[in-house]
Amino acid sequence: MMTLYAALLPLFLLSSCSALHFGPGSTFSIGDSDFLLNGKPFRYISGGVHYFRIPSALWNDRLQRIRAAGLNAIQFYTPWNFHEERPGEFNFKGDRDIGRFLELARDNELYALVRVGPYTGGEWENGGLPWWILKEKDIKMRTHDPRFLRLVDRWYKALLEHLRPLLLKNGGNVLMLQVENEYGEYWTCDHEYTEWVRDAIWNQVGKDVVLYTTDQPYEKSLSCGTVAGVFPTIDFGPASHSDIDSAFALHRRFYQRGPYVNSELYPGWMVKWGQSEERNPSLDLVIGSSNYIYSRYNASFNYYMFHGGTNFEFWVGSQPDSSEITSYDYYAPISEAGDITFKYTAIRNWIKSIPDWSHPPLALPKNNTKVAYGSVQLNHAGHIFDLRRNVTEKCAMSVDPLSFEEMDVPFGYVLYETNLTAGGKKLSIADFKDYVYVYVDGDYKGVLVDGFYGYQRRSLEVNARPGQTLILVVENRGRISYDTINDYKGILSKVFLDGQVLSGWKQCSLNPEKVNGPMAELKFSDLWKGGNIFVGTFDAPIKADTFLDTRGWGKGQVYINGRNIGRYWAKAGPQKTLYIPGCFLKDKNRIVVMELLGTRMCPDSKCFANFIDYPVYEYAAPDSTKPFDPPASPKVHIKYAYKIDILSFWEIIASFK
Ligand SMILES: *[C@@H]1O[C@H](CO)[C@@H](O)[C@H](O)[C@H]1NC(C)=O
Ligand SMILES: *[C@@H]1O[C@H](CO)[C@@H](O)[C@H](O)[C@H]1NC(C)=O
Ligand SMILES: *[C@@H]1O[C@H](CO)[C@@H](O)[C@H](O)[C@H]1NC(C)=O
Ligand SMILES: *[C@@H]1O[C@H](CO)[C@@H](O)[C@H](O)[C@H]1NC(C)=O
Repeated sequence: MMTLYAALLPLFLLSSCSALHFGPGSTFSIGDSDFLLNGKPFRYISGGVHYFRIPSALWNDRLQRIRAAGLNAIQFYTPWNFHEERPGEFNFKGDRDIGRFLELARDNELYALVRVGPYTGGEWENGGLPWWILKEKDIKMRTHDPRFLRLVDRWYKALLEHLRPLLLKNGGNVLMLQVENEYGEYWTCDHEYTEWVRDAIWNQVGKDVVLYTTDQPYEKSLSCGTVAGVFPTIDFGPASHSDIDSAFALHRRFYQRGPYVNSELYPGWMVKWGQSEERNPSLDLVIGSSNYIYSRYNASFNYYMFHGGTNFEFWVGSQPDSSEITSYDYYAPISEAGDITFKYTAIRNWIKSIPDWSHPPLALPKNNTKVAYGSVQLNHAGHIFDLRRNVTEKCAMSVDPLSFEEMDVPFGYVLYETNLTAGGKKLSIADFKDYVYVYVDGDYKGVLVDGFYGYQRRSLEVNARPGQTLILVVENRGRISYDTINDYKGILSKVFLDGQVLSGWKQCSLNPEKVNGPMAELKFSDLWKGGNIFVGTFDAPIKADTFLDTRGWGKGQVYINGRNIGRYWAKAGPQKTLYIPGCFLKDKNRIVVMELLGTRMCPDSKCFANFIDYPVYEYAAPDSTKPFDPPASPKVHIKYAYKIDILSFWEIIASFK
């Protein structure tokens, strides 16, 4: 033993400024009622934080904040689709450099719990599974379907090669790896599959690495989710003492020895487009539950989320009734923009009050600077149809419409077009995902909706004549992240006009960022209709975080300097602003806005985008159809002088009363 300590001593001395010890040869295991780190009882208070929702330039900033709260660990998923966007092409660079993220966490004295899936969920596109898996039509994801296992095997070889040097035993900070995610909630209950996943991970990292599962505290979840030889943990939100007691009592029935663990204590909650009210647990319940779990059960636990981040690009996932908003703020202790919220301060104070906590909080971090860049003029750069004619990503001709997957278009928007040989009144499509914006010869007719809080619309009056062109712009809102159905996107059945099948389709993917504009000519009367693209430029002498205010806009997609910063849907809410990190800005910046429903932000024959220095959320009473309507009336349109005249006429009448 002496020689072993002597050998490790220099490493411990090197890190003597740190409360934690990292060094090759460290061990982590499950004891009778504790985790054991190098043979000594160990527990963690961890924070959920997703590197894939934070630009890598901000990783250190966010990790410092987590450390300063007094947490000693982080927990995160590794979404497969973020690293293997095309089959066999792996990416672990830049914003995808997990190794660097873990090293920064280690530099900030944080251990890590890594949830390697392969399914990871987390309100992320397709629950983290690559879209291209669906090209195998009837594949059964998350089962022992050999076609699925072959792909997981290839992914694990790539992923675990990157994680191996960062495991605790190899000198890194990774304590344990999680198998699957809430698998017990999935209908298959396929133990052959979960045992295969367990062995696939162990084959790459060695059987001495502790694996764990996370399941909801229900009998069925735990019996289907628990895997032989894998340590079971549970997840539950802030709750009463008696609910926590029964959750942990059930938990105990599924393992003989080891500590109590809650892998997801929710200090906040996710938000969907069109959600009518805030779901945000009270601070008292969050702190009360933390304290009870910690003191009564000696438990280790993780806050899901401690910092949520942003669903940039098209990475947001969806649920059967709606999709998640672009922000993943989650009402977490650290806000989307890295702000220190009242929840953060309260959790930090609670940790500070724990007498035997070995990892006390550091100085309270400051909020980052935010700048309101103000109003930026936008020029009309063309119509969504122009994208198809000029700058198309990918086009295909077919008899019947093709799905996104058949076209090899992962995300975003596809424009379908057909020339009508016969006219007709009523357009109907039985199966499509998710929203279809319908045009006849350039005239917007309305939108078809697959599902939005129970509302659906599968047919529409179009009154088309022979020789006209029917255009269907289909929006993919993100694949289902929780139920893991094979969630195909696009037009998925035949299209009918008055009962006649329409055939002969051309379909093109759209990339609004590639618009050639700005075009000089402003067709003012068209601007409040949907399908327009706007381009503007602005200077940023200081590069600070800012928020694009989308109030007055309908629904669409925004790009800053070529980066897709996400979807906005002010008509649905509650999110009204889009977070733009300062690290995305340059001296001169280009903004592109694709508006699908219509805008009221062109009051004086000029359109504008407004940048403010705070986020805005507005919850409204549920109304499932309104979010798809164009702006009620072009009220701020003061181009037509007679409208103002009529208004002043009524004002004069009113003044007589
Ligand atoms: C928690 O730890 C204390 C001190 O070691 C011990 O007395 C107590 O029994 C533990 N409680 C549980 C639920 O394990
Ligand atoms: C930091 O930001 C949060 C959330 O926006 C706010 O509540 C808090 O007051 C800010 N802190 C300071 C010191 O300004
Ligand atoms: C529709 O007709 C136009 C003009 O003839 C042609 O350019 C276009 O390719 C046709 N579209 C389809 C889908 O056939
Ligand atoms: C489309 O192409 C024409 C001709 O090249 C060009 O004048 C126009 O600006 C382009 N429009 C867009 C929206 O890219």
